[in-house]
Parts: sequence; C-alpha cells; structure tokens
Amino acid sequence: MIEAIANEAHAFIQQHWEEYTAEQHEVWKILFNRRMSQLKDAGSRVFCEGIERIGLSENHVPNLDDVNGRLQPRTGWNAVPVSGFLEAKLFFKCLAERRFPTTVIIRRMDQLDYLPEPDIFHDVFGHVPLHSDPVFADFLQEFGAVAAASVTENEVKLLTRLFWFTVEFGLIEENGKPRAYGSGLISSAADCANALGAKCVRLPFTLESVFNQDFEVSDLQNVLFIVRSFDQLFEAAERVKRLLLNGDLRTPADKAATKIVLGCCTNEGGHSH
Ligand SMILES: [Fe+2]
Repeated sequence: MIEAIANEAHAFIQQHWEEYTAEQHEVWKILFNRRMSQLKDAGSRVFCEGIERIGLSENHVPNLDDVNGRLQPRTGWNAVPVSGFLEAKLFFKCLAERRFPTTVIIRRMDQLDYLPEPDIFHDVFGHVPLHSDPVFADFLQEFGAVAAASVTENEVKLLTRLFWFTVEFGLIEENGKPRAYGSGLISSAADCANALGAKCVRLPFTLESVFNQDFEVSDLQNVLFIVRSFDQLFEAAERVKRLLLNGDLRTPADKAATKIVLGCCTNEGGHSH
C-alpha cells in the first residue's frame, strides 16, 4: 500500500530534468509512439491538439518548465512535480488552484505495459494535454474546489465516481463516434481498446447515471459515459456544487447526524436568555 502524502511541505519537489538517463528518454519515446499510433483514431481531437499545444513529443521525457511555459499562458494551469501519491484533500486543493500534481518518475523498460502507481507518462501524457482546453480547464478547477469541500463518506464516494468516469475514463462524441479523453484510456492501450470495443456499454453522460455507477479500479471498465462536449462537464460540476452546498449529497443518516449537532448548538444558544 502506497502511503498518501497529506502535508504540503513534503509534497512538492523539483523535477531535475537533466538527471533523466538515455534509457528513461527511450522508455518515454517507446510509450509515446505506441500510444500515438492508437490515439490518432481513438483519441479525442482535444487530446491530439493538446499534445501539440503543450509541446509533447517522442524526443524526450517532458521538461515541466517547458510544458508550463506553454500551458500557463493559455489556461492558467501548471503541472507541479510531487514526490508521490497525494492525500485526496490535498490533491483536490491543488486542482482548485489550477495546479496538477505530477509524478516525475518514469517506469522501467521492463514495466512498459503496466505500472500500478502513476508515473510521468500517465500524469503528463495522460492528463495534461486536456488542461490546455479552456472549458476542460475550468471544469477541472471547479471539480477540485467542490471535491475539496466534500466531507461525508457519501459525498466523497459520489465525487470519486464523477472523477473516475470523466477525468480518468471519459469518452466524448466526435463526428458521431466515441473518442477517448480520460487519462486512463489515453495512457493505456488495453483500457482504450476495451472502452471502444464490443464489451463496453457506452451510455450518455448524466450526473445521475455516473453517481449510480460503481467501479473496480483494477478491472477493465465495462460501463463508460460519453459527453457531447466539455460544457456538459462544467455544468455537472456546477450542479454538484449546488447539491453539496444544500447537503443533498448526504445520506439520510448523515443528515440526521448533522441535525443532532445543530440541535446541540441550538440548545447552547439558549444561554443568551
Ligand atoms: Fe490519472
């Protein structure tokens, strides 16, 4: 089990780009070329354009200073190097500040096809190109702000589902066909082929359907959701904000517990008379 980092002081590091070895750049090149050959057809237009906009290429592991030099002026987002897996609240707080926590390690040559934890290929190739799209950029910030404000187990569960079925495994319709934009699909050939194949049920995206859909992290996903445009994601995040503020993402038991707490406060108010 990887321990999550909760303390901001221990989270952020420098990339030290000059220390990547020739073999590590070669790993990046192999992964980049393998994925691009599939994503020319399977990847969303926004992803393919994003690769160009932020200047990723097969040539080398990306230097985050260069990536941010292109990304920041477009949408205000930055990819910030972190030492490992961040605790959820800290991760969401970063998103709310338009900072995307990015691991800087890269998998070894003998781990090309699968790595259980994120590496720079998943984080930068898989996630960051979309941050150059203004609508997706706004959605992700809004999602981070809402998720950082979630408290109860049920709120966290529903927001995790929304993140999973959009940012990680989302599909978008382009020219009448589903295309991958979620990072789990972008960075993995098997997940991407499965998502667009016969075994996967692809449903129109609605907040209700996503909230009702459970998932297993380690399985191929056999139910996914298609958005018509990223405006739908932004609208969903706005709705979630309202639902959260009204307490509508709490279970009846959560609400009852909140009432008891409020009841205590009300009684204390009695001291004034
Ligand atoms: Fe991811």
